[in-house]
Amino acid sequence: MDVYGRFISLAEWKVLIDDWLANPGQEPFYNLKPDAREAVYDAIFIGGGASGRFGAAAMIARGGRALVIDKWPFLGGSCPHEACVPHHVFSEAARELDYAREFSGEYWYPEWDVTKASILEIRDMFMKNRNTGHSIMNFQSKEQLGLEFILGAWATVVDKNTVEVDGARYKCRNLVLCVGARPTPPDIPGITKKGVYDWATILEDLDYEPNRCVVIGGGKTALEYGSFIQATGCPTTYLSRSPILGTKGLHHVDDDIRDFVVRMLKHRGSVIHEGAEPLEILGEDKVTGVRFRDADGNEQIISTDFVFLGTGERALSGQFGSLGLELNDRGQIVVDAHMETSVKGVYACGDLIDGPMEMFKARKAGVCAARNIMGETDYTFDYSDFPDFLHTTYEVAWTGLSESEAREKYSNVVVIQMPPKGVAPQDCGLPATDGSMFFAFTRPGLNGIIKSIIDADSRKIVGMHSVGFGNKNSFQYLDVLIKQPNGFTIDQMAEVNELFLNDGFPQLHRLRAGQKVLKDL
Ligand SMILES: Cc1cc2nc3c(=O)[nH]c(=O)nc-3n(C[C@H](O)[C@H](O)[C@H](O)COP(=O)(O)OP(=O)(O)OC[C@H]3O[C@@H](n4cnc5c(N)ncnc54)[C@H](O)[C@@H]3O)c2cc1C
Ligand SMILES: NC(=O)c1ccc[n+]([C@@H]2O[C@H](COP(=O)([O-])OP(=O)(O)OC[C@H]3O[C@@H](n4cnc5c(N)ncnc54)[C@H](OP(=O)(O)O)[C@@H]3O)[C@@H](O)[C@H]2O)c1
Repeated sequence: MDVYGRFISLAEWKVLIDDWLANPGQEPFYNLKPDAREAVYDAIFIGGGASGRFGAAAMIARGGRALVIDKWPFLGGSCPHEACVPHHVFSEAARELDYAREFSGEYWYPEWDVTKASILEIRDMFMKNRNTGHSIMNFQSKEQLGLEFILGAWATVVDKNTVEVDGARYKCRNLVLCVGARPTPPDIPGITKKGVYDWATILEDLDYEPNRCVVIGGGKTALEYGSFIQATGCPTTYLSRSPILGTKGLHHVDDDIRDFVVRMLKHRGSVIHEGAEPLEILGEDKVTGVRFRDADGNEQIISTDFVFLGTGERALSGQFGSLGLELNDRGQIVVDAHMETSVKGVYACGDLIDGPMEMFKARKAGVCAARNIMGETDYTFDYSDFPDFLHTTYEVAWTGLSESEAREKYSNVVVIQMPPKGVAPQDCGLPATDGSMFFAFTRPGLNGIIKSIIDADSRKIVGMHSVGFGNKNSFQYLDVLIKQPNGFTIDQMAEVNELFLNDGFPQLHRLRAGQKVLKDL
């Protein structure tokens, strides 16, 4: 369908996308200027997810000409369709359910009724409404950003200056590869049985209400989905090869934070096996159990009708074999600090390259490629260090060094922490942040933990960590503050004007800021 020059409202996009997804294989949506077939684009972006859409927008903002192609009938990619956005919906449900269970029968909370919290129902709510988000992406990209796009069609690279879509060829001076990654099922006998799901198939294929769950993995995906599943009342067991949150891809996880997370998962009833090796998914056609070797080397069997895989993803670099790009040992495309691959004029971004699979990296990598193509050749993007977060029933957020990393690097480390070290959390009604007041007053110990790590010699804050509620947004900005060239000191933190009296960071730093020789708090 040619949509160029035609105003399409948000509501119309929703109908078009609904229809396309219900009846796939329809004609693509073309939003191309009339000379598209003869034009030579500054860049063609293959994949219109986080990296492709932001890259193309950045190019257009700088006066360039970009074409974005996506196999889905919408822009925005996997984040709103099947990854971050459903995860946030499920994590919000997990938090609400957690309160409902913890306060069952108290105050205005009804008695907890396990039959009322349905994974299927919450999943269906997301699926019914997800195209609303997609329509905003299409509307904004077309009407406000002026993106040229072809949606609902596979792009095939003919050579580095030619891309074929739906039988037609389009020319470009540069190619930007933005096709992302997909889940990688581990090589375990029985893994293809019905009842084994990942973050994508739980949305598309789940057709029964699980009664028991085994989560394989101990990283973000495992904890986020496992916490949600447990919160619905479906007993969940984690089989984690490395310690929970100890996987190599996660950096700077502080031991106290990890301990709190693990303790809280257990408090909610989850069972955790660390150092566990899954050996077989049991059952005839459908899963009935998982056989695994525990950390002591003993084999065990857990009965379950549902296995959730949080075992990571693999870059979709295979489709570009003809370009002869250099790949690393994990199949990711190797790029330099400009996002340029080993082939000049070919760039790669987002989950296709190494580093964290996160939205900030995908979006900024796309922008970095676009800026370089537009002549800003000294513009680079370093994603080796970054703030991080995940959900359990809490928000877990952190930036900078963990305490043990700081102690290795600095000889004089001071820690400000709440609850303070040596104090039993169940005796301490702090931190009491927005969202944890109820826990702080009635269930001390469940209210969270905050921690700041300071190099006492320079007085600079070198790491900040938090488990609680409503904290991850502030960590975006705290990260910038503490990583300024001159750093951010405890004394500067003391000057911050807190809007919430209980935000622990400004007040606790202020209590210590006057001290000449800093001490732990
Ligand atoms: C469960 C889960 C939760 C997450 N939660 C968060 C979060 O809370 N915060 C966060 O920052 N990150 C989160 N992430 C990570 C984030 O989703 C990714 O890092 C981000 O979406 C990657 O963007 P991308 O542009 O590389 O790829 P994508 O957004 O996946 O885009 C790739 C696009 O390429 C298209 N495509 C592929 N091949 C072709 C082809 N040949 N022709 C045309 N189109 C093609 C696809 O249709 C897709 O639209 C989460 C990931 C997962 C799995
Ligand atoms: N921001 C967010 O909220 C968010 C949410 C989800 C994902 N993401 C991002 O997406 C990426 C993928 O995350 P992820 O949690 O899916 O994967 P991950 O970080 O790679 O963790 C994979 C987990 O699965 C385990 N595992 C892998 N293969 C296994 C096997 N064969 N047998 C048993 N266990 C196995 C790993 O154990 P080992 O440690 O022993 O290898 C690890 O615990 C990451 O970059 C992550 O940051 C972000």
